Amino acid sequence: MKYIVYVSTAVRLLTELELLELLNVARDKNKKHNVTGMLLYCEGTFMQVIEGDEASVDLIYNAIERDVRHKNIIKLGNDKIDQRNFPDWSMAFASVNSETLQEIEGYLSSPLNNSTGNEHITVNMLKTFVDSNKLYISF
Ligand SMILES: Cc1cc2nc3c(=O)[nH]c(=O)nc-3n(C[C@H](O)[C@H](O)[C@H](O)COP(=O)(O)O)c2cc1C
Repeated sequence: MKYIVYVSTAVRLLTELELLELLNVARDKNKKHNVTGMLLYCEGTFMQVIEGDEASVDLIYNAIERDVRHKNIIKLGNDKIDQRNFPDWSMAFASVNSETLQEIEGYLSSPLNNSTGNEHITVNMLKTFVDSNKLYISF
């Protein structure tokens, strides 16, 4: 198994309906390929982790990379993992403002927060987000 984590910029601010449509397609296709993960949307910036079999993750990522709804796609991490960080989510989603994001970043840089394994720091960030904000995961 592997994961890929990236950030990108929406070509324009997306409406809730557009995000919902994007998620419906993404979740259906992810389920078919047994891919799980988390998508965070913050004021025009996407941050996403996808995880699953190597071939499936690459297939989904190739489609994402070609998507004209975002640009400046920067792959931050691409590595093997032994187990999933988001086993229950075909694609967890949260739309947050930058203040919330800063709170999470602040929590992560605290010395109490030890990260283990070979996940990229942003994967831990998104995992922390899902674990601590279950109620806020929208849609
Ligand atoms: C920010 C962003 C995240 C996306 N995440 C996924 C995803 O997790 N899974 C997925 O199948 N498609 C995702 N998509 C949509 C894909 O780019 C693509 O439209 C979709 O996979 C359908 O591709 P197809 O018509 O070639 O099958 C995402 C698109 C964007 C812009």
